[in-house]
Amino acid sequence: MRKPIVVGNWKLNGSSAANEPLVLGVLDGMRELAGIDVGVCPPLVYLSQVAKLVEATDLGLGAQNCAEHDSGAFTGEVAAAMLHDVGARYVIVGHSERRALFGETDAVVSTKVGAALGAGLTPILCVGETLDEREAGETEAVVRRQLAAVIAGNGIEAFEQLVIAYEPVWAIGTGRTATPEQAQAVHAFIRGQLADHDTAVAQSVRIQYGGSMKPDNAAELLAQPDIDGGLIGGASLKAEDFLGICRAAAQTVG
Ligand code: PGA
Repeated sequence: MRKPIVVGNWKLNGSSAANEPLVLGVLDGMRELAGIDVGVCPPLVYLSQVAKLVEATDLGLGAQNCAEHDSGAFTGEVAAAMLHDVGARYVIVGHSERRALFGETDAVVSTKVGAALGAGLTPILCVGETLDEREAGETEAVVRRQLAAVIAGNGIEAFEQLVIAYEPVWAIGTGRTATPEQAQAVHAFIRGQLADHDTAVAQSVRIQYGGSMKPDNAAELLAQPDIDGGLIGGASLKAEDFLGICRAAAQTVG
């Protein structure tokens, strides 16, 4: 039985004033939830603020990106060990916005996964196809390639310590969610790819769905056998919406 995991990706949103009520609202609602992991990923400058708010609670802190490198002359970068140092447990790696807007290649993503693991963080490895790729029938080839780079760079054992997020790019921030069947098919495909290397790892790795997951569509997505949680953008910015998804996840464990 895989423990569901729901993580909020705040992206480029938040402020000192807005973060506190959002986090306190999530913490309040979490008191009625059991059996799931929950995390939030604020922008880097707010990690320490949110770390204080979540200290000694079950709400995990994560970052949205990390450097490939551990230290050195890399102006503007933040190392995985620094994220760990200020209290982060998770780091999102290879989000499609990083891949598309900031030129992150499969090789860079693989190196970042290694950097995150080396620092004791749990990477949330994002994979997923664009609309063009889906329409060209390339969904499986794209996801296979994205996974293969991380397996080649870090070994299949890395998947014992990370979380995968399947995020079809066409569903992110668009309000156009993958159907439960579409998502389930790719989640099962991902597990199958990993099973070619190690069946136990394939069975144990948690695979989140991400892309316009909301309180009103979360239950049917999370009911799919290979969907183990959600990576939540827009709906993570309001405590009630985020908690609605967390509640749907908690219901899948009874
Ligand atoms: P969305 O974003 O929920 O706003 O679609 C998900 C993500 O990009 O992680």
